[in-house]
Amino acid sequence: MSDRTTVDYVEDVSPGSGALPPRAWYAASDARSMSLNGSWRFRLSATIDAEDDSFAEEGYDAGNWAEVTVPGHWVLQGDGAFGSPIYTNHLYPFPVDPPHVPTENPTGDHLRVFDLPDDWPADGSAVLRFDGVESCARVWLNGTELGEFKGSRLPHEFAVGHLLKPGGNVLAVRVHQWSAGSYLEDQDQWWLPGIFRDVTLLHRPAGSVGDFFVHASYDHTTGEGTLRVDSDVDGRVTVPALGIDVATGEPVTVAVEPWTAETPKLYDGVLATAGERVPLRIGFRTVVLEDGLIKVNGRAVLFRGVNRHEWHPEKGRALDLETMREDVLLMKRHNLNAVRTSHYPPHPAFLDLCDEYGLWVIDECDLETHGFVEQDWRDNPVDDDRWTPALLDRAARMVERDKNHPSVVFWSLGNEAGTGRGLTAMAEWIHERDPERLVHYEGDWNCRDTDVYSRMYAFHDEVDKIGQRLDGGTHKRRELPFIQCEYGHAMGNGPGGLADYQELFEKYERLQGGFIWEWIDHGVEHAELGYAYGGDFGEELHDGNFVCDGLVFPDRTPSPGLIEYKKVIEPVRIEGDAAGGTVRITNKHDFADLSALAFEWSCQVDGETVESGALAVPALAPGESAEVKLPEPPADGRGGERQWTVRALLADDTAWAAKDHVVAWGQFAVAARPLPVVPATDRPVRGEDRITLGPAEFDARTGALRSIGGIEVGSPRLDVWRAPTDNDDGAEWQTDTRYGLLWRTLGLHRMRHRLASVEAGEDALTVRTRVAPAAREVGLDTVYRWTSDGERLRLTVSVTPEGDWSVPLPRLGVRLGLSRADRVEWFGGGPGEAYPDTRTASMVGRWQSTVDGLQTPYLRPQENGARADVRWVELGGLRIEGDPEFWFTARRWTTEQLDAARHRTDLTPGDTVWVNLDHGQHGIGSQSCGPGPLPRYFLKAEPAEFSFVFSAVK
Ligand code: GAL
Repeated sequence: MSDRTTVDYVEDVSPGSGALPPRAWYAASDARSMSLNGSWRFRLSATIDAEDDSFAEEGYDAGNWAEVTVPGHWVLQGDGAFGSPIYTNHLYPFPVDPPHVPTENPTGDHLRVFDLPDDWPADGSAVLRFDGVESCARVWLNGTELGEFKGSRLPHEFAVGHLLKPGGNVLAVRVHQWSAGSYLEDQDQWWLPGIFRDVTLLHRPAGSVGDFFVHASYDHTTGEGTLRVDSDVDGRVTVPALGIDVATGEPVTVAVEPWTAETPKLYDGVLATAGERVPLRIGFRTVVLEDGLIKVNGRAVLFRGVNRHEWHPEKGRALDLETMREDVLLMKRHNLNAVRTSHYPPHPAFLDLCDEYGLWVIDECDLETHGFVEQDWRDNPVDDDRWTPALLDRAARMVERDKNHPSVVFWSLGNEAGTGRGLTAMAEWIHERDPERLVHYEGDWNCRDTDVYSRMYAFHDEVDKIGQRLDGGTHKRRELPFIQCEYGHAMGNGPGGLADYQELFEKYERLQGGFIWEWIDHGVEHAELGYAYGGDFGEELHDGNFVCDGLVFPDRTPSPGLIEYKKVIEPVRIEGDAAGGTVRITNKHDFADLSALAFEWSCQVDGETVESGALAVPALAPGESAEVKLPEPPADGRGGERQWTVRALLADDTAWAAKDHVVAWGQFAVAARPLPVVPATDRPVRGEDRITLGPAEFDARTGALRSIGGIEVGSPRLDVWRAPTDNDDGAEWQTDTRYGLLWRTLGLHRMRHRLASVEAGEDALTVRTRVAPAAREVGLDTVYRWTSDGERLRLTVSVTPEGDWSVPLPRLGVRLGLSRADRVEWFGGGPGEAYPDTRTASMVGRWQSTVDGLQTPYLRPQENGARADVRWVELGGLRIEGDPEFWFTARRWTTEQLDAARHRTDLTPGDTVWVNLDHGQHGIGSQSCGPGPLPRYFLKAEPAEFSFVFSAVK
């Protein structure tokens, strides 16, 4: 057992001891460095003092220890031998007893023996850098203790030159899962201990660069940039492309191209001191708060953003550069222009990518104390002076590390930490250290410490009020711009209502956009479950699949939410005027003109493109719009539905996408769709146990359809149930009505069908039913009326609600079964899924897929895969036309099976393909953490009539 005092640091509120002061981070210079990433020896103990620290001594034999990969989290390695991840949203997974942590405190001893390369310089000194260790580490080199630190997603450096030997250096790191620091790191994510970012040995030659601060501003009135590099160690700054060669600390003003997220112009430069040359990538831009607006280079910006946690399904928060690049490329390709690094500074290389490709960044400090909300914020560390040094240390480590990135426009104090003196101290320190950026924090509704009024999940009507400046608030707040640092909760199917938010953001100048929650589902790759979420590791407290709420799946496949968001925030608006034969093009960029885009028109007849060509559009400046004449519509050869589609494409390859990548599009009808007409010329003929009508056979007793043109069909019958989405169910604290639960209480998942009559009449077979749940008086009087012209079969469904329906319906339509179906072709909205308030990206056209291809594999299975505005669909040998257009869904399992499944792997295909043809769907909304669907997307229980025409595919 160790002496108690040698382990006290774990529960000490101080940030640590022994580390060097924070400084600017850079990936490489001409000074030598050596990565210590790779395989390390590893020993796990159940408590902090189960083992003494003799392993840190030279000569210790760790030959029988296990191994782990650094960077990495031990709980994601060793096939469960090293414990498992824990997911909680805001609850601390240990008693709230600050600064104490459980005695059961998994402690990972890490050991790495290394030799210096032969040509490692003998002069100068060296530092050892840890870019991220969760949550507390104690470090020794060659038996000498260097210190200990907390602040998991922040860098820590130690001076080690005096301890290094040419060979056999022993680096020992003891990492504790829990520490006083854990109280400051209560973010909604997996708790994942380990050395999860790089470990690097950096040679520091005599006269090498210390800390430095690149100030590169842009004066939009003159087109000039001013550069001044403040450096602890004097030297010179050169920027060849600008002819700059000045001493550090000396300002120089020259004509430059500015940096913006849309035009991320970087100038390569060098900071040279006597002992080192550090490459600089300089972006000139000026961020100010002016006229109550966030302005960059003189113009107000609109954030089309997302919250990004670092996530990889196998490696957790240990991300490699290619994964980071993939995130940035995906964001750029989907029209995003901003990232909030929720809720901690990301790996520094990510910010290099944001500089390079162009994304505005809110860099957020590694701070959240959300769990204290359970006790009304009593004892909250951010309002307790004893913790303030730790908070200031975190602020400084973020700002000093990241201050040279042009992409960073806001510093965020942290997330969901209540309010308190410690936050104020952080804001004061940051404002003083970097007056050239703005400060963000959402928890400060009075905006005492912040430069922006920021909220999360504010409902549309409140945002509207805020836009009109009718929201009141403190005097300071009333002067500030507004952003939603989180909105549009992308959990499962959704988020809905994004287009409605965007409309508000574009309407009021005070609203400067928002950041969707969140980028990626934090699913953990799992042998049996596919992807695991909270509870799958037997955690005693957990928040289930609340950790799977991203716009991309864990493997970074875009979910429909991302496709929708891309369309909603597209930087060019394309609106047609069919009668005038013109299209209005509006440039919605904040900085770029349209010269990077090429436009293309096409004309569709019944969804098939019959002609297309280039459209000349002037290089409109931001905010400008123009009416552009379309060519003469192609001659009216075959009637049918006709529409224009106009697309904006990249005119050339860019750093983030290839030429012809579609940035924006618009579609508008020229001639409406002729509705299907089926004259009721055939009459139903009653046989012994069958009724025949045209190509169809029915059960004579029940009136149930059996086959059409020899194709067996499980009879269509009324269906109102959908497997509730996360947004249908809503979060427990929601004030909006949580219909997912009310539907189930009412029994909409167990509707019974009472057959009232089967009437074979003159020209129709009419089946009357009443559909209702047990124990309730509400019901849906439902009449199926079948007619035929001998070849085609028309079904008209009439629904009349009875009783007091106080809830909307999940869906309204029919469900039928097909025994053999795979390939699907349709004319309607596609290619992806859509619902009433997530349908902006649904493009009308001819689409093909397979039944499997229609599924959206949400990690917790739920309603998915509907296609909107379907005119007709062909599958399983049947052609189904709608009057009016309908929502189409097909899957190899029933809705009930989908509803019962917890993971994708619970869904096993059966023999039948279940097809839903819906007249209506209820909206999706964002109620898993935000508003439900807006009233206009409600599917009210009202009298309805809709038809389908069935025929065998020719
Ligand atoms: C917010 C929080 C996020 C996340 C989200 C819900 O309150 O800041 O970290 O928990 O809600 O997914």
